[in-house]
Formats: sequence, C-alpha cells, structure tokens
Amino acid sequence: MTSLSGKIAIVTGASRGIGRSVAEQLGAAGATVVCVARGENAALTATAIRESGGQAESHGVDVTDAAGVETLVAGVLERHGRIDILVSNAGIARDQLMLRMKRADWDEVIATNLTAAFTWCQAVLKPMIRQRTGRIVAISSVVGQMGNAGQANYAASKAGLIGFCKALAREVASRQVTVNVVAPGLIATDMTRTITASAKGDWSTQIPLGRMGTPEDVAAAVRFLASDEASYITGQVLAVNGGMYM
Ligand SMILES: NC(=O)c1ccc[n+]([C@@H]2O[C@H](COP(=O)([O-])OP(=O)(O)OC[C@H]3O[C@@H](n4cnc5c(N)ncnc54)[C@H](OP(=O)(O)O)[C@@H]3O)[C@@H](O)[C@H]2O)c1
Repeated sequence: MTSLSGKIAIVTGASRGIGRSVAEQLGAAGATVVCVARGENAALTATAIRESGGQAESHGVDVTDAAGVETLVAGVLERHGRIDILVSNAGIARDQLMLRMKRADWDEVIATNLTAAFTWCQAVLKPMIRQRTGRIVAISSVVGQMGNAGQANYAASKAGLIGFCKALAREVASRQVTVNVVAPGLIATDMTRTITASAKGDWSTQIPLGRMGTPEDVAAAVRFLASDEASYITGQVLAVNGGMYM
C-alpha cells in the first residue's frame, strides 16, 4: 500500500459508509485523519483508526455550516500546519419524482452535496496552493453521469460536482493541486439499505460485475487518487460502479 505518512487528510461524512472506509484506509496508509460528521458521529471512526495504530481526530460539523467549516479548517492548520488531502464525501438523498418534489428537498440536497464542496474546497485551497501540493477528491455518483428517475435533485448535485471539479482542476493545476472525482455505482451503505430487495435485483442485472459495491471498493480508489502515485491525474472522474455505466 502506498504510504501517506506525514499527510494531513480531512474526510467529510466519516461517521459511516463510504466516508468511514475512506478515513480508515487513509489512516491505515499513515495519514493523520480529521474525521468530520455531525455531532459526535465521527468519534467512533477516529477511535477505530487510533486503536489500529493510526492517527485521527474527530469533529462535529454540519457541512452546510460555512462558518463551522472555516473554523474547523483554521483549527486543523493551527494544530498540524498543513492540509494535504480533502475528501468531500458527505452526502444525502431526498428522492421523489419531480412533480412531487418539494423545493426544500431540492435545496437541502444541493446545499449538502454541492454547495458544501464549494465551501470546503475554498477553505483548503489557500494552504494547498501555498504548499504547492494538494489532493482534492469529491464523491459524485453514477447517477450524476446517467441520471435516475426520482433523483433529479441528487443527479443535479452530483453532475454539478463533476463540472465544479473539472473547472477547479484547471484553476489550480499549475500549483500541483489535483482535483478528481470518484463516481460510485450502487454501494452497500445506509444510503442504499432502504432500497427494496426487488429493486436491488433489478439494479444488479444492470451491473456487469454482478454485485453491489462495498465502501472498501470506493475507498481504495480514493486512497489512490489521494496518493503521490496519482500526481499526474487531475480533472478526472474515476467510476467505481462494477461496469454499470461505461
Ligand atoms: N451508497 C451508494 O450507493 C452511493 C453511490 C454513489 C455515491 N454515493 C455518495 O457517497 C457519499 C457517501 O455515501 P454513503 O452511501 O456512505 O452514505 P451514508 O452511509 O448515508 O453516509 C453519509 C455520510 O454523510 C454525512 N453527512 C450527511 N449530511 C451531512 C451534513 N449536513 N454534515 C455533515 N455530515 C453529513 C453523514 O454523517 P452524519 O453522521 O452527520 O449523518 C455520513 O457520515 C455520498 O456523497 C453519496 O451521495 C453513495
């Protein structure tokens, strides 16, 4: 495994699912991981990393609270002096067909999945540019690439992330800061737990590799993009979807 020793990494949505696995893999690779979720939710992830011999801290921040994000990033800089990796992973779904979708569900999904990525990136960019190195990885979705009925808000947020990251990648490439996207397919987490067994069956026929993905499948891709080995990769969308969308 590539070493991330000495790197300071922030992972949003680190309390469970994909974000927890990303935090654990970055921690296992030697990074000091700043685990973010609401309230005390990310504490167990940080504890697990420390119990495995890694370094981690946890913070309760709502990613839609711009002032809270800025305070947290300032604190990380004060304590560690640098920020090498940002994984913008926190996300929600509020599914509904368009005709029934409430404006509040649109706003909440765009604020959490897209606007929060803007806030986090703006907060970490200055130190990364100053350092002349940095890795930003945003978690989009196959739904942002191919659409999905009942997820107009979610698809818009995830497609928006792709455009956002490509634009940002071009802005900061000259400072050796890379910005990439990982687009997972159907991954077994709390977010997909409520999909009925028959719907999961329908989905699995559309996945050439014949199974749902695991958080670990996604985390491995993130860990690679966050490493020095990925220094010549920027503005890319790495699909981790079992071949569901090619
Ligand atoms: N599962 C899939 O099939 C799939 C597929 C494609 C893309 N994705 C994307 O992958 C990412 C992770 O999804 P997941 O499946 O791991 O979901 P999950 O198990 O539901 O976890 C979501 C994470 O986001 C955090 N979060 C949500 N809203 C937040 C907020 N306002 N402030 C701070 N943290 C917040 C949650 O923390 P709290 O403890 O604070 O709730 C939790 O850690 C999301 O962006 C999702 O859209 C998932």
